Amino acid sequence: MVLSSQARAAGIEEEWARTVRRLADERDALIVAHNYQVPAIQDVADHVGDSLELSRIAAETDRSTIVFCGVHFMAETAKILNPQRRVLIPDPGAGCSLAASITADQLRAWKAEHPGAIVVMYVNTDAAVKAESDYCVTSANAAKVVGSLPEDAEILFGPDMFLGAYVERVTGRRMHVWMGECHVHAGIRPSDIQATLTAHPDAELHVHPECGCSSQCMYMMATGDLPADRTFVLGTGGMVRRARVSAAREFVVATETGMLHRLRKENPQATYVPANPDAVCGYMKMITPAKLLECLRTMRHEVVVPPEVAERARVPIERMLAIG
Ligand code: 13P
Ligand code: SF4
Repeated sequence: MVLSSQARAAGIEEEWARTVRRLADERDALIVAHNYQVPAIQDVADHVGDSLELSRIAAETDRSTIVFCGVHFMAETAKILNPQRRVLIPDPGAGCSLAASITADQLRAWKAEHPGAIVVMYVNTDAAVKAESDYCVTSANAAKVVGSLPEDAEILFGPDMFLGAYVERVTGRRMHVWMGECHVHAGIRPSDIQATLTAHPDAELHVHPECGCSSQCMYMMATGDLPADRTFVLGTGGMVRRARVSAAREFVVATETGMLHRLRKENPQATYVPANPDAVCGYMKMITPAKLLECLRTMRHEVVVPPEVAERARVPIERMLAIG
């Protein structure tokens, strides 16, 4: 019997997944994957989620090893919360343009200009930056954390300027906002949204708050240029939860395109359309099925955070987890 190339590829993927699962059991390893990972990795993982969900799972696991399929700052966060466990990342070069937009030295200099200010940093930062911060936030809880701070507090918020603008609008607070951005989300423009919604006029719109269009989308909701009842600014986990309860059958999704696999799998009857099909994070895609397998075979690429940095970085992460 001659197998089609599609059937052969499916057979190879099944064999790969079986080997990954067997090795994970043998190594007492938990595999977690961010929503932007390639489909095969999402499908083989123990948990798929947003950065907040994965931090919580990492904090609660009793396995001795966590294999983090995501970018480096996420694996570092898992290590900070689990200093006694081994955290591996299949490719340690998987960085993040947003995390790279602020260094600990830059943050120290910024703090020196604003003595007494409260520092609120997105989790998309290196451990050394977290160690200089008072609170961490993710896209899912940034507004809640900022809203919980004293009314008269001076706030330094970073490093994402679009998330900062979004939080200012939602909370009504004024903050000093660092001018960093994610190159993937900054590339999703209001014109992409308008063109995609014109082609799909009944669709519900989900916009990640890191997008270059997020603050403008909120303005357009206020002016009636976007349907306020069908437009939602959501982190990646929020998109999954909203799709579960929405009556809409069609969704325009403004974020990294890996998200579509997760959404389609959860809700196969609905149609998901990317606002910009070129919004692909090359860093997330550095984690390949072959590298995951190699990582489990060799147990290489351990994430190391110096204990004195981890101890200080844990404080803002735990404050965030306590607020929700
Ligand atoms: P979430 O917190 O929504 O998972 O986003 C993380 C991220 O890196 C966005 O690009
Ligand atoms: Fe970083 Fe942007 Fe990639 Fe998210 S999508 S990991 S913020 S570069």
